[in-house]
Amino acid sequence: MATEIAARVDDVVTVLANQHEQARALLAELHETVAAVAEITRDAAEPFRELVELLATHEAAEELVVYPTLKTGLQEGHVAGDCLAEEHETKRMLAGLEKMGKGFFAFPDALVEFEQTLLAHAEHEEQTIFPLLEGRVDDEHRRRLAEDFRSAAARAPSHAHAHSPQGAVGNVLLGPFLATIDRLRDAAHS
Ligand SMILES: [Fe+2]
Ligand SMILES: [Fe+2]
Repeated sequence: MATEIAARVDDVVTVLANQHEQARALLAELHETVAAVAEITRDAAEPFRELVELLATHEAAEELVVYPTLKTGLQEGHVAGDCLAEEHETKRMLAGLEKMGKGFFAFPDALVEFEQTLLAHAEHEEQTIFPLLEGRVDDEHRRRLAEDFRSAAARAPSHAHAHSPQGAVGNVLLGPFLATIDRLRDAAHS
């Protein structure tokens, strides 16, 4: 959808502004649902933590104390074996749940923090970068920047990563875009 809208406009500032609005709309759409999820996960976090602690210690102590008694003292090795197999399966599943839980319980608050940071960043760009582009770059140049922006966006990785595209691979992928930025910088200093 973003690409379709961007393809119809010929000014880089309009392209950027449209995508900022799309991001705001998506965040607003997420906000309400995630707030509801946050309320539920807050209630679930403590009992889940207690459950993990209880079962982890319970099963470990059973394996140290109860099963050896069944096997050696009572000569019930086959009963112990069946139950131990089940026990290992529940431990495997619980370890997976505990791992998932870390991200699951942290997600709502992390998203709210991200939303605030991103909205502030978008506003900052709109107040500083947009007026510079509109005031100091002519229409034709802004049209070329819009083309380069679309081209760079089409080649850019569509998954988040923490590093800026300044390495060799990033420069190859974003070459046309960066070349235009260089032209823009030259124009601004001439
Ligand atoms: Fe058990
Ligand atoms: Fe932006």
